[in-house]
Formats: sequence, C-alpha cells, structure tokens
Amino acid sequence: MCDQSPDRRRGFVFPGEAMEETARVEKQLQALEAWVLLAIEGAEEPEAVEQIRIRVLGRKGELTEILRGLGAFPPEIRREVGQQANTLKTRIEAALGKRQQVLRVALLEGLAFREAIDITLPGRPIARGSLHPLTATLYEIIEVFQHLGFSVAEGPEVELDYYNFEALNIPKDHPARDMQDTFYVTDDVLLRTHTSPVQIRVMETQPPPVKIVAPGRVYRRDADPTHSPMFHQVEGLLVDHGVSFADLKGTLQAFVDQFFGTGTRVRFRPSFFPFTEPSAEVDIACVMCKGAGCRVCKGSGFLEILGAGMVDPEVFRMVGYDPEITGFAFGLGVERIAMLRYGIDDIRLFFENDLRFLQQFPTL
Ligand code: FA5
Repeated sequence: MCDQSPDRRRGFVFPGEAMEETARVEKQLQALEAWVLLAIEGAEEPEAVEQIRIRVLGRKGELTEILRGLGAFPPEIRREVGQQANTLKTRIEAALGKRQQVLRVALLEGLAFREAIDITLPGRPIARGSLHPLTATLYEIIEVFQHLGFSVAEGPEVELDYYNFEALNIPKDHPARDMQDTFYVTDDVLLRTHTSPVQIRVMETQPPPVKIVAPGRVYRRDADPTHSPMFHQVEGLLVDHGVSFADLKGTLQAFVDQFFGTGTRVRFRPSFFPFTEPSAEVDIACVMCKGAGCRVCKGSGFLEILGAGMVDPEVFRMVGYDPEITGFAFGLGVERIAMLRYGIDDIRLFFENDLRFLQQFPTL
C-alpha cells in the first residue's frame, strides 16, 4: 500500500540514499530536542511558550516540516524515524502543556497576592451627612405652621425696592429705612432685607383669604455675634374677614408651644413697623434661665424672636385689596430661634462650616 503512495512514486528518497537521509533527520531531531526542551523550561510568559509551539509544531513548524518530509522515505525507515519524531513531538507537547500550566498557576498566584483582600480589616467608616442645624430648624418651623393650616410661598432674594420698601408703606424718604442697612444692586434693585416683600407679591396675585408662610434668605449690612449679613426669616401672613390681634397671639402661642414646649411664656411688647398697626415684638421666656434672668437674656428673663402686627390698611390699599379686610403678619429670625433652641451664643458658628460644630447635630 505504502509503495503505491504518491510520495513514493515521486521517489524523493531512493534506497541508496536512505541511510544518509535517516542520519540527517535523526541529527535534526536531536538538535531540535536539544534546544526546544530547554527553551520551554526557560519561557517566562505564556506568550513565549506559545511562540515556541508555533515555531516547532505550527503549520510550518520545524518538527512539522520534518514529519512532512518523512513521507518521501521508504516505509521501514519512515516507520523508525517517524517513531522517533513522534516521540519527540509527544515530549515537546507535554513540556509545552506543563510549562503553560506552571505559568498560569504562577500568574494566578501573583494576581491573588497582588489583589489579596484582608477580610479581617475593619471597614472604612462612611461619613454620614446630616441636615445643617439651620435647615433643620427652618424645616421644623415650616412644619409647625403647615399643621396650623399655612401653605408655603416664596419670593426672590434680589428684589425691587418697590416690594422691599415702598409697597410696605416705607417710602423713599421714610426714616424707617434707616432701620435696615441695605445692600443695593442699583437704585431700584437690592438684596431683600426681610421676607415681608413676599406678602406683597402673594397679595398681588391672590385674593383673600390668604394664609402663607414665606421662608428664605435675607441680607443686611450687619455683623456681630448675634447679627449676620445673611440670615433667614420666615414671614407669616393671614388675611381674612374678622381677623383680630387675638388670632395673632393665639397663632404665635401655638407655634411657641409646639416648638419650645407647651407653656413656654410669650410676651408681646409694643413696637413699630410701617406695614403693621398695631405692631409688636414678641419675646419668649429665656430658654437658658427659664425667665430668671441671666447673661444670655441680659437679666431680662426674655428673648426676642420675632416682629409682628396687624397688617396696615395702607398695605392692603397698595395691593388693591379692600382696606376694610383684616389680617396679621409676623417675621421671625431663624438663626435667633436656632440659637435659643440649641444654646448657641455666636451666630457666626452657623456659617463657618466647622465640622466640630456641625457634627454636634448628627440626628437632625
Ligand atoms: C423685620 O424684618 C420685619 N419684616 C418683621 C415683621 C414681619 C414685622 C411682618 C411685622 C410683620 P426685624 O428687623 O425686627 O423685623 O427682624 C425680624 C427678626 O429677624 C428679628 O427678630 C431677628 O430675630 C432677626 N434678625 C434681624 N436682623 C438680623 C441679623 N442681622 N442677623 C440675624 N437675625 C436677624
């Protein structure tokens, strides 16, 4: 059968040359064996092992070529040399496989070492944020008034002189403007000095009854331990038929009871605001000394928290309401309330963002 093979018929190797050819191939095999097994052992990367495999066993590899050339040998020689070549091929394949395996394990071990996770290490603590004490106070104030039936309204911080002063019965030459040192942007535009302009904006767009609170930032040229150039107010406005000063007192007492605790004493002192008549400043019994008199309340036993009064008919006239309608308004300082609540004696602490201060309010 072999005698009839095409190679044989082409007759590349004739019997006379066979011995010589056998010796030549055996030498090739020995030379190959000599370097290839060492090279495999010395390969440091899986890629290098693969290169050796291609060089020796690939389609045009050195051993592949030798094996291919054997086709031209007489059968008995082919069998003998072919066996040697195949034995070497098996050894090379085994060495390649073993080396690949060793390198793969080493790679994985290296990875495992480099990316090792020590699961006994304690976790890194995740810093939990919390509401700023002013934000928490503001939310709480709003919530109390929402339970009393007030809804929330808002207005711009950069305001027209008209809404901040004129519509509130404070004309340009009125001495009451001295009460609030103002940051002007232009002659007619300013940073609002209080939240009262929101009253006007709401009444301009909505007929009575009105029952709103307007929280927000306000600005004044003021800076000392109890006054900040930017601070927060909550404005309150209730307009309806037959609203009396008793309603104002009842509403504010309800707020103080809710916020500072039932039975906290509230004191109304006559005061003046151009947009309310009569007007009052409202104090609560000092939270530090419970009214006995101390350094914080300067011995008076009381602390001021807000300004309030019955809306002046002139304000109703300015927004086009019937001046016979009645209503009350109030404006409270959020920082002042937070200072009283938490016993803070310097308003600047709220704005320094010192974590040692802020972390004292973790549950807010
Ligand atoms: C007013 O701003 C009036 N608009 C309040 C008002 C509204 C009266 C409606 C009548 C009707 P006053 O200037 O007193 O009022 O400020 C109100 C509160 O803001 C003060 O009681 C105080 O708690 C707070 N406040 C005033 N100035 C500062 C400041 N510079 N820093 C922090 N809080 C301040």
